[in-house]
Amino acid sequence: MSKLLYVQASPRKGRSKSIQVADAFAAAYRESHPGDTLEVMDLFAADLPAFDGPAVTAKYVILHGEKHTAEQRRIWDGVEKVIAHFKSADKYLFAAPMWNFGIPWRLKQYLDILIQPGYTFRATENGSEGLVKDKPVMTVYARGGEYPEGTDAAALDMQKSYFELALRFIGFEKIHSIIVEPTLAGPEKTDIALKKALKEAAQSAADF
Ligand SMILES: Cc1cc2nc3c(=O)[nH]c(=O)nc-3n(C[C@H](O)[C@H](O)[C@H](O)COP(=O)(O)O)c2cc1C
Repeated sequence: MSKLLYVQASPRKGRSKSIQVADAFAAAYRESHPGDTLEVMDLFAADLPAFDGPAVTAKYVILHGEKHTAEQRRIWDGVEKVIAHFKSADKYLFAAPMWNFGIPWRLKQYLDILIQPGYTFRATENGSEGLVKDKPVMTVYARGGEYPEGTDAAALDMQKSYFELALRFIGFEKIHSIIVEPTLAGPEKTDIALKKALKEAAQSAADF
């Protein structure tokens, strides 16, 4: 029995196109994997610790091989809890909007918490090595505009390129994606894009 962690990075709930498509993937996944568990994590509602000055200090205390104070230990416990929860999953599904060519700040905050040496990657003589191994990930990316591969606009996409760089850095190799775009070029174009992405979502869940 596997656990699929479904992370929603849009605060738009039912209006979110990335969530609509990821929901379709999740529904098809449930049908084809009836014995698995599926946990939904809404990043805008989740109790994520701030990755602020005290958290960064607690991180550097570890990097410098020093001991945490009681307060730093308390802060770092919060970081470890989020990492342990993330690593408890076997498979991942993300719904990720494009915000200002990149990812929403809550998803970046989640990555800043998760990407820690000794927990999700480690330094080796040959460079860094990701520690989240052999786990597939599917991400649904929604964009208001269009950024098709092979066009000048593709260079502006720091959403998929950055997010997948971060995933690869912590060890993911089986990286799948569905793009829904454009979502802000009028109802007709949105409808066509949404239908295409929903079909892809329904088809790709069985083998995931
Ligand atoms: C704060 C913000 C920034 C955005 N920046 C971009 C952008 O840089 N490029 C783009 O194509 N669309 C941009 N959009 C539009 C969203 O990508 C689009 O509405 C998408 O459908 C959002 O995903 P969602 O429907 O899952 O919430 C932005 C939307 C918001 C709210």
